[in-house]
Amino acid sequence: MDLTPKEIVEYLDKYVISQQNAKKTIALALRTRYRRMQLSAELQAEIMPKNILMIGSTGVGKTEISRRLAKMMQVPFIKVEASKYTEVGFVGRDVESMVRDLVVASISIVKAEKEEENKEKIENYVTNKIVEKLLPPLPDAASESKKDDYQRLLSAMEDKVINGEVDDRIIEIEFAKTNIEFNDTNLPPEMAKVQESFSKIFTTMNKDDNKKEVTVKDAKSLLKHEAKSKLLDMTSINTEALKRAEDGGIIFLDEIDKIAISAKSQGRNDPSKEGVQRDLLPIVEGSSVTTKYGVINTDHILFIAAGAFHLTKPSDLIPELQGRFPLRVELESLTEETLYKILTQTKNSLLNQYEALLGVEDVKLVFEDAAIKAIAKLSHRANEITEDIGARRLHTVLENVLEDISFDADEYKNKEFVITANLVHEKLDVVVEDDDLSRYIL
Ligand SMILES: Nc1ncnc2c1ncn2[C@@H]1O[C@H](COP(=O)(O)OP(=O)(O)OP(=O)(O)O)[C@@H](O)[C@H]1O
Ligand SMILES: [Mg+2]
Repeated sequence: MDLTPKEIVEYLDKYVISQQNAKKTIALALRTRYRRMQLSAELQAEIMPKNILMIGSTGVGKTEISRRLAKMMQVPFIKVEASKYTEVGFVGRDVESMVRDLVVASISIVKAEKEEENKEKIENYVTNKIVEKLLPPLPDAASESKKDDYQRLLSAMEDKVINGEVDDRIIEIEFAKTNIEFNDTNLPPEMAKVQESFSKIFTTMNKDDNKKEVTVKDAKSLLKHEAKSKLLDMTSINTEALKRAEDGGIIFLDEIDKIAISAKSQGRNDPSKEGVQRDLLPIVEGSSVTTKYGVINTDHILFIAAGAFHLTKPSDLIPELQGRFPLRVELESLTEETLYKILTQTKNSLLNQYEALLGVEDVKLVFEDAAIKAIAKLSHRANEITEDIGARRLHTVLENVLEDISFDADEYKNKEFVITANLVHEKLDVVVEDDDLSRYIL
């Protein structure tokens, strides 16, 4: 979490080309939260996060930026589509559920950390339980020398269990029935309570059935589960997770433009859109949301909204909501140059992916630089002629270039296949320049 803005941008540069403004704004917002956490509680309460609105046409990296961020930052993060709250069947769906999802995301982060911290304890627990089954206990009356022997035997057996030497032996274990977990966080808390009671009833109903003959290998994973529920303090994990979601959580609200109501077409629009915007207000502004794990205050959760805003403008959102996203960043549409860089400079770029995929068939794929340039050029051209779908165009274009090779891969086994600029033009020139064709194919 204590990465400087420069370091965050540097990391993002590995995956997302250009879009420096957006990267900077987000990096800064994250750093500001870190700075806030170093202050006195009194000042902390005063400093509200500045929510961000990312505007840019489709396929230019909006979602990609936040996806990568979340991976790197180990902070509770979720992404939701604002538009899903307006879908038929979802009307009346409770917008607060996004906050509950955030808490669940937070819990799994904290839980994973605690498991890592207690790894040794958990493993010991498992090993001891299994050794108990494999070695009959020593009678109390045993002599001192017998006790020593037994100790040696015990530690030898422990090693065997740990090294997997006895994995195939069958033992009978009785394990505490784990609760059948229902985790539908979309339920309001009252309903969640009902669910929990049900799960308890089911668990007690199955009570007799908790002895099982299993291999040592399976016992290990079964007992691990038991060890975790015995050794980890779920209450403190939940408390910690709530706190983290409250202070560090990020909610990425994608497709926010889809709930804006275009000034031109008013009246024809779905009234539920405005409803969703109104429902969002208190959450973004800061309010208390009750979850199964406790009450969470949304004051300091960072909201990053994103949308293409093709048919609508940010000003088509209700004013109150606009005001809650003071930081606006625009993402540029992708130039030929940028597309070329996306192909060549990103980690796990599309080209690498295709190389790896065909590598499985023992075909070595080699792209000439001129060919990559041609792919970028034609992708850009296709974006100009038809719709601009950004970097997603590269997928369809590449697929077209490589389709035949991919299909006939068995013929090229153990050979090198060089993709030349000529080949690219041969496959695509006709398609790109023909408006109708490219609409269908690319
Ligand atoms: N600037 C970029 N650098 C590298 N890859 C990019 C860039 N922009 C887009 N991509 C790639 O294009 C694909 C689509 O991008 P992304 O999901 O970020 O689009 P988006 O801006 O969220 O579009 P939408 O508005 O349709 O949701 C991703 O696979 C991503 O890797
Ligand atoms: Mg997106």
